Order: sequence, then C-alpha cells, then structure tokens
Amino acid sequence: MSKIKAAVVGAGLIAGKKHIPAFLRHKNKVELVALCDLNQDGARKLASQFGVPRVYSDLGEMIEKEKPDLVDICTPPKTHVRLAVEAMNRGCNVLIEKPMALTVAECDQIVEASKRNGVKVCVGHSDLFYYPFMEARELVKSGAIGEFRGMRIMLSTPTDYMTSREDHWAHKLPGGVIGESGPHIVYMTLAFINPIRKVSVDAMKVLDFPWSRYDDYRINLIGDKAISSVSLSYTTDQWAARLDILGERGILTLDLEGMYLVNSRRPKLSPVPVALSILSESGQIMQNLVSKGVRLAAGKYENTHDIIVSRFVDSIRDNTDSPVSAEEGREAVRVLNMIVDKLDADKPGSNGDRDLALGRASSPVA
Ligand SMILES: NC(=O)c1ccc[n+]([C@@H]2O[C@H](COP(=O)([O-])OP(=O)(O)OC[C@H]3O[C@@H](n4cnc5c(N)ncnc54)[C@H](O)[C@@H]3O)[C@@H](O)[C@H]2O)c1
Repeated sequence: MSKIKAAVVGAGLIAGKKHIPAFLRHKNKVELVALCDLNQDGARKLASQFGVPRVYSDLGEMIEKEKPDLVDICTPPKTHVRLAVEAMNRGCNVLIEKPMALTVAECDQIVEASKRNGVKVCVGHSDLFYYPFMEARELVKSGAIGEFRGMRIMLSTPTDYMTSREDHWAHKLPGGVIGESGPHIVYMTLAFINPIRKVSVDAMKVLDFPWSRYDDYRINLIGDKAISSVSLSYTTDQWAARLDILGERGILTLDLEGMYLVNSRRPKLSPVPVALSILSESGQIMQNLVSKGVRLAAGKYENTHDIIVSRFVDSIRDNTDSPVSAEEGREAVRVLNMIVDKLDADKPGSNGDRDLALGRASSPVA
C-alpha cells in the first residue's frame, strides 16, 4: 500500500518537538515531504535537523508542488481556520493543533469545508492519548469504579513557557494564556461529561507581567449530572497534569506526565483497610513506572502525538473515523469560549458579575 504524503505548516515549537518526530517515527506508512513557514530561516533549520526535503513559505504553493494527502497545521490559533480551509479546498486532509479555531463560527467553516471536500479533520487534542487517560476512559466505561460522579483536573504550565514572555502570541488570544492551554482541560472534561451546560470561573493575577491577563484560574465545568473542577496555574516553574476521577465505588488518580494511574478503593476508614489501600496504590505506581521503562527500552513507547498522528494516518488510509473529529474540536471551542465570556463579563465597565475575578483581576490591566 502506498504511503500517505504529509506536509507541516508552522515550523515552531510543537512541530519540532512533537509533530515532525511523530511523522518520522511512522515512516512505514507516512512520508513527510515538506515544511512551510513564514519564517524561512526557522523552517530551513528544522528541515535540516530532521532531514525534511523541501521548505516553502506559502501553503498554496506547497500543496500545488507536493500534492500532500495530509496537511498538518502547527501555527498559532488565529491562523487555523484560513490555513485549514485552504488546505481542504485543495483536497487535503488536515490535522489541526488545538484549539481547532478561535470561535464556533470559524469551527463551522472548518466542518463545512471538510464535508464539502470529502476530506477528514483531526484536532490535536493530544492529552486524550496519554496512556493513563486512555486507560481511565476504559475503566470508567467498563464500570470499574461504578457510576461516574465527577472529576478534578490540575494543570500547571511554567511561567516562562508563555506568561513571562511579552512577545508570546498567547497573550493576544481572546482569553490570554488560557486560550493556549485551556483547551486541554476542556476536552479532557468533555471525554467524561458531555454536554457542559454551565461554567463558573474565578481568575486571579498573581504575577506582575502587565501583558498577561490572568495567571491562576479555578473553573467549574458543569454537566447534567457531574462537575469537573479545574485548577489552571501559570505561576510556578512546575509542569503538572493530574486528574482525580471519582466513581461511586472508587477513585482513579492520574499523573499524565508521570504516566501512572492508580485505582483506589477506601470504603472504610479503619487503619487496616486504609493501610492495604496505600500499599496497593504504591504498588500500582511502581508497576506503571516499570511498564513505561519496559516500553521505552523496547522502543515501543509512543507519546501522545505519536499516537494521534499514527491513528489519523490510519483513518485516512482505511477511510475510517478520525481519532478526534472536527465536531469534537468545535465543542471544545464552544466550552472554552463560555469560560472566556465569563472572564469578559467581569471586565471593569461590563455589566457582569464583578465577584468572578479576585485580586488585581479587575485592575485596568484586565
Ligand atoms: N497539543 C499540545 O500539547 C500543544 C503544545 C504546544 C502548542 N500547541 C499548539 O500548536 C500550535 C502552535 O504552537 P507553537 O507553540 O508551536 O507556536 P510557535 O510560535 O512556536 O510556532 C508557530 C510557527 O507558525 C509560524 N506561522 C505563523 N503564521 C503562519 C502562517 N500563516 N503560515 C505559515 N507559518 C506560520 C510561525 O512563524 C512559527 O514558526 C498552537 O495552536 C498551540 O496551541 C499544542
């Protein structure tokens, strides 16, 4: 069977760290033929680092010359809709990094272009493909912790990733930095609670970077029968992506980057069952670490982007469903914008609930 031909637009951080290595890892079924970036120096540097044959500055020219089956969009969010629609109108399937676009109206354009051109869309909801997250979905689906009752997510992105950098494009997104990493907490919630009917948001500005709107958030995403409570912080030098999933008969605790999932049960608070539960939890962490080590040693460890790229390539080749559909991307944008609307409602001079934001959030900086 002939290989899928792929080309990447946007030769920045995520392309170099995750997307290009993912294509190269799956050389047996996909061939990365070109990179396109407005910044030609950056694109040439990345192309030579990874041995990508050709570099372009214009998407249309790249598609005309290379005729890729798949265009992978790794540019900042405000460019997604234009680049995706152009690629689809020229007959290409598209992988679009999160958020799929800035507004629901833009998402509708993407859904429409995909249907009209008969091409597939996959959205880069990468955290869905962490091993512990995939396992947690299976466990909840199989009833392993009984009826799903709710969840909690804690995400920490280091200050120097975006917050302290005045020139980072994230500060110009509708909600500021939450527009960059907020999609992760939204689509992870939607995997368990869908639809989200309502949101509540508290936001605070802890650090003194005038260009950054807020840097600490507490968010509740509220469905019909369950709530996801989120802490989203940009105020430390720590990376963290942790979840607790509460079931009627058990709790799943996930450390996505630490790659472990602990399934615990503590129906009684007496010392012996609690001690046994702690022993079991420690054993599960060790077991997870060993299995990660074994996968790494055997060259079988795949990161989230390896998995999403591989599955999307398969879905194009086999004409099956995309691993993350455009509709899922659209729903995540709709909910993210509910959060941003709550923040906007608290802007000084608006008629919204001023108690939503705390600290200096209601200073003119916001
Ligand atoms: N899934 C994840 O975990 C994850 C992590 C980081 C970033 N992202 C997403 O990936 C996307 C890119 O983020 P990044 O951090 O790599 O950004 P970046 O700024 O490092 O890179 C973006 C690149 O796109 C180029 N570019 C901008 N407009 C262009 C255009 N019209 N045509 C061609 N090139 C253009 C820029 O020159 C730059 O090289 C964003 O949507 C971001 O939210 C996802």
